[in-house]
Amino acid sequence: TMSVRNNRPRVLVTRRWPQSVETELAERFDTVFNIEDKAMSAADFRDALGHFDAILPTVTDGLGPDALNVPQARTRLLANYGVGFSHIDTDAAKRLGIAVTNTPDVLSECTADLAMTLMLMVARRAGEGERELRAGAWTGWRPTHLVGAKVTGKVLGIVGFGRIGRAMARRAHFGFGMKIVVQNRSKIAQEVLDRFDAEQVDSIDELLPQCDFVSLHCPGGAANRHLINARRLDLMKRGAFLINTARGEVIDEQALAQALMFDCIGGAALDVFDGEPRIAPVLLDCDNLVMLPHLGSATEETRTAMGRRVVDNLVDFFEGREPGDRVA
Ligand code: DGY
Repeated sequence: TMSVRNNRPRVLVTRRWPQSVETELAERFDTVFNIEDKAMSAADFRDALGHFDAILPTVTDGLGPDALNVPQARTRLLANYGVGFSHIDTDAAKRLGIAVTNTPDVLSECTADLAMTLMLMVARRAGEGERELRAGAWTGWRPTHLVGAKVTGKVLGIVGFGRIGRAMARRAHFGFGMKIVVQNRSKIAQEVLDRFDAEQVDSIDELLPQCDFVSLHCPGGAANRHLINARRLDLMKRGAFLINTARGEVIDEQALAQALMFDCIGGAALDVFDGEPRIAPVLLDCDNLVMLPHLGSATEETRTAMGRRVVDNLVDFFEGREPGDRVA
């Protein structure tokens, strides 16, 4: 067993994980934890690529061209803790012969729960109400106090109809009697649309004018940067609400702030930000905006399941099988 132990793959975990999965990793691999629990720099990564067989990054680790700018790497696998992987330059990884995996499925329900939370909060002005109450400014019930928008029976537009988009559709359709309109880069099977009584449109431009709520569930990255820009915000119904649990860069935040300030739309609710955790100051001035600190998958159950999923990908990979969640 001694030689087996010595031959265990060397694995770098860039952030602290739930205890049970850290224990499992340490039992199975020669694991180094980044005990500072701070985002790593490009220089840290270039160094790590020479020392570790696998690196287990998260969304806070920018694995762009700079971090992957090494002539060759010992690292064979980037096993991401999270479903979104637009922070990883998969072309650069491929050139170095590094495979990439993610953690789909296990976070879809909790992320859709959070998108529902945001939708209800912004429509019912829950953030504004809580801020008012905590500031000691509540003067009591009155017929015109913090009057919001009804959610039940309204039209919800879903941009990106993958696993999370569908989990959102299920909640909105069966729980709130909403009519679902979908935009997705590929055609969705009719039988899938029928499950939610949903209709697929060809473009975002076609979707936006029909919807009372629009929820983003597409990937981030260069292709979807500023998908929601000033022109498209203008296509939304006056009084409509925009929800983002996908990636911050999908929305042009300056344009969104303008639209909110001038009441071009009713409100917005964001769990993700361009350049997070930095928040564009202009957003902080918008009252009709709910903001949460990237909590989509943040439940005990899901964060543990995400870790297990990474362990499964690692074990498959190092035992010579194709990992189920290989994305590049
Ligand atoms: C995800 O899983 O994509 C979360 O946003 C964290 O990366």
